[in-house]
Amino acid sequence: MKVAKSIAQLRAWRKRRLGRVVFVPTMGALHAGHAALVRAARKLAGPGGTVVVSIFVNPIQFGPKEDFASYPRPLKNDLAVCRTAGADAVFVPSPQEMYFDDRSVFVDESLLSASLCGQSRPGHFRGVCTVVAKLFLIVQPTHALFGEKDWQQLAVLRRMVRDLNFPVEVAGHPTVRESDGLATSSRNVYLNPSERALASRIHAALLAGAGKKSPTTVESTASRLISAIPGARIDYVEAVHAETLQPLTSRKFPGRLAAAVFLGATRLIDNIPLPPTP
Ligand code: PAF
Repeated sequence: MKVAKSIAQLRAWRKRRLGRVVFVPTMGALHAGHAALVRAARKLAGPGGTVVVSIFVNPIQFGPKEDFASYPRPLKNDLAVCRTAGADAVFVPSPQEMYFDDRSVFVDESLLSASLCGQSRPGHFRGVCTVVAKLFLIVQPTHALFGEKDWQQLAVLRRMVRDLNFPVEVAGHPTVRESDGLATSSRNVYLNPSERALASRIHAALLAGAGKKSPTTVESTASRLISAIPGARIDYVEAVHAETLQPLTSRKFPGRLAAAVFLGATRLIDNIPLPPTP
């Protein structure tokens, strides 16, 4: 497995690869969800295809009071996960390699980014779009895979690819969950044992909400159950249209029930499908 630290190294290696190049961008601290993404990438690449993973904790998608400095960076373990899951190359640039100090060009998606996480994390999706656009230009993948746990991110990036004509096919991969239903996330390690035990109730609350008929009852049921979790503080619980991310007006349309919840100091996000009902 090739490990490239510079853009030049990655580009020189990439030049020799023909056929499908399936890309899995990550910020490292890889867990079972990432391993599943890389295995899915391996399958999608097919015989003769290539799987590239990037590991880069992207400073410009973190707010000033967020966890950029403390974000886990277990590189040795991450490389082992990539190797076992079937990556051909891992791109591990430094912030200096990726960004000029006087950078002045960003990629800004202005519609889908405005709600949900975009409300409480201003500038977050601008940072995500900018780094993913840069990574696409460096790696030049034919396909890219993203986890559905970050549903809004997936929708925003699909829009970026559509509007800017990136020649990349973007696909989502279903959320991988722990046995009690908690969505796997690099931030789960921040939870203390009692928070960890309570965290699975977020997914249970979403499932209970999804069983209701009207979008308002879906939201109110999930919100009530999440509010009852000791120490939980709701950032948002919203039923939205699966593609436009606008508030879901009827269960006739494909929806997503999405939540962001603080458990202690840890902000967890999750979402589940709201399939259209007759
Ligand atoms: O989902 C993530 O890990 C990040 O937001 C991404 C897509 C790698 C961009 O930094």
